[in-house]
Amino acid sequence: MSQEAQYLDAVCYHSAPGFLQHLTAELPDAYRIDGELLTVMGSERPAYWVRNVWKKPFTLEFDSIKDAANALRAMQRNWAPYPVKLARRCTLIAEALPKLPSKPKPFPFALPDAPMGAFTLLDEHTLMASAVCASPWPNGELNFAEDKEGPPSRAYRKLWEALQSAGTMPGPGQSCVDAGACPGGWTWVLAGLGASVSAIDRSPLDESVMAMPGVRFIKHNAFTLKPQDLGPVDWLFSDVICYPPALYDWVSLWLESGMARNFVCTIKMQGKDWDRATTQRFASIPGSRVVHLWHNKHELTWMLIRD
Ligand SMILES: C[S@@+](CC[C@H](N)C(=O)[O-])C[C@H]1O[C@@H](n2cnc3c(N)ncnc32)[C@H](O)[C@@H]1O
Repeated sequence: MSQEAQYLDAVCYHSAPGFLQHLTAELPDAYRIDGELLTVMGSERPAYWVRNVWKKPFTLEFDSIKDAANALRAMQRNWAPYPVKLARRCTLIAEALPKLPSKPKPFPFALPDAPMGAFTLLDEHTLMASAVCASPWPNGELNFAEDKEGPPSRAYRKLWEALQSAGTMPGPGQSCVDAGACPGGWTWVLAGLGASVSAIDRSPLDESVMAMPGVRFIKHNAFTLKPQDLGPVDWLFSDVICYPPALYDWVSLWLESGMARNFVCTIKMQGKDWDRATTQRFASIPGSRVVHLWHNKHELTWMLIRD
């Protein structure tokens, strides 16, 4: 038999893989830490270095694996296990629950309707879980069906994820700037969607991408090109490796000029630390957000989507 769920006045933040240190810097007052899961008392706070947020955590006492699975199943279908303590027992509970969809996703795809919960074990007879989570993917993990032939780099998956989460994307008749485009993964995505792309880099793109219809390559330092040099665009992309303030200054020029409607830019962190001040400046641009995508490494993605 399982007991009633006991809801906590807390939120659980599941750190982006390998970035627990960054997350603990953001949320230094964790009440408990289970693996890479931080439980923090009070209502939800902004945090960038997360793969998922458990928005309404509860604890639940249970007798057997079957009781635990039945109690979760009674709430909803989908539960992702996060095994930390008693990992084997946690996995057995997951195995007694309906199977999670595991097929890699094509791009683009329709978002699932069914909510995705998450759970972990605190001890042999107590689980902590949340039916309501920020990410629709199990523990925030999104796997695309990869294209191993077309794109010249694997960075295209990051852009796929950003566009998927934006819920809109460039298409025929739309124009894009892709700054820091070499070898051409992002340009390959954008041209493949039928948009025209001004791809800027100091190094040339892969020849196959250069030859795609709608691609114009500009060999230049992107940051010395002003909005007026490139003209109005529907989308501005940047994956330039640079110090975050350099990107912020360039993006500010575009915002002030009103010459770009939508933005997707990678904020690349230099060294082991992260530039919190510049990240906050990006995040405070009205209507925009900063996220750590599943496909981001030591970087965050800033998005301003107006379409
Ligand atoms: C991470 S790579 C981009 C990968 C690319 N998005 C893709 O999908 O293949 C970063 C690129 O930024 C370029 N870069 C660095 N500083 C730059 C600058 N000031 N202007 C233009 N490109 C720059 C580098 O040459 C490098 O090709």
